Amino acid sequence: MDLNSILSEAVIKKPQSKRASSNFTMDINKLRRMGLNENVYGMAPGVLKVYEEEAKHGNLYGDFGGGPLKQALAEFYGGGLTPDNFDCGAGSSAMIEKLGGTFLNPGDEVLMCPTFAAFIDMATIRMAVPVIVPLKEDKGYDLDALAEAVTPKTKMIIVTNPNNPTGQCLKEKELLAFIEKIPKNVVIAFDEAYLEYSDDPEVKSMYPLIKKMPDRPIVVQKTFSKYYGMAGVRIGYAMAAEEIIAKMRTVPGSSLNRPGMYAAIQALKEQEYYKEACAKIIAGRTYIQDELTKLGVTVYPSHTNFILFDAHRDYTKVREMLIERGILINNPMLNRVSVSTKEDNEYFIECMKEILEILPVIE
Ligand SMILES: Cc1ncc(COP(=O)(O)O)c(C=O)c1O
Repeated sequence: MDLNSILSEAVIKKPQSKRASSNFTMDINKLRRMGLNENVYGMAPGVLKVYEEEAKHGNLYGDFGGGPLKQALAEFYGGGLTPDNFDCGAGSSAMIEKLGGTFLNPGDEVLMCPTFAAFIDMATIRMAVPVIVPLKEDKGYDLDALAEAVTPKTKMIIVTNPNNPTGQCLKEKELLAFIEKIPKNVVIAFDEAYLEYSDDPEVKSMYPLIKKMPDRPIVVQKTFSKYYGMAGVRIGYAMAAEEIIAKMRTVPGSSLNRPGMYAAIQALKEQEYYKEACAKIIAGRTYIQDELTKLGVTVYPSHTNFILFDAHRDYTKVREMLIERGILINNPMLNRVSVSTKEDNEYFIECMKEILEILPVIE
């Protein structure tokens, strides 16, 4: 078969997706999962109950546009937002696809600092051009450099806050100053997958800008995967002005799995459970950061449920040796470890002690 004669030009030209190519050659369920930024505490018992109950009605369609969830989200956020300010899909990843489908034409430039790989796929599959602006030396998202990189071809800027894989965040003040520098015809998409894990009061969601800056195309992308412990359930959403959401909904992908949708609605009501889980994750994060620092590892400040670190060793080998010891971490840039249970976090530190003794230092 001459595949190239039948494939779309975009697929032929698109580099292999980092995510799609990350087929695990090992059974990751046999490992301590500290590589995918999952929430180790999982769904609240009440959420699980709704999920199981709704699974009994799995033969019935839920709602093709996620209507009940959009209603619940509008009530949850308030601030004048209505269900028409929300679009839903199978995880934030689906919303990233919808973002691309709504705005990108071939040749459009999409500015971003090194971040979640799905944004690159979103651009390249539409023959748009991802323009990657380097991070600051401290691995912070470089807003000044992004603003300077805007050209007449810039269609969209991605601001992941906090960022993956660095874990770092941007304060509200910095973001408001940045927005003022950006032309009003450029879409600014905020990915806030991990925002709830930040304990800095100056780090805030940008969703109020949807009402405060109606002349700007601002989209805020969120997920139930991380804070709400529902990564396998696949529920995410976007918030934006009504006219933008109306167009995003024309891009296929708003249909949700029924148990997941009702479980997500319940999750919004179980804030106490999630606050407790978050406190445990932040305690685990502080523990790992402190212990790694004591071992001479460079740790980047994290506002998420994962930590980026530089062990000053061959980072591929660090990951391999952790896998040999039963721990999966990831290497999207240096080494990145997700916070897990107290026991896993302590075991991880024990293993790191051994590995740092074995591997030679790289200056
Ligand atoms: C920054 C960021 N955005 C979005 C996602 C996608 O999350 P999901 O598709 O599970 O909602 C991830 C997942 O790791 C992420 O790190």
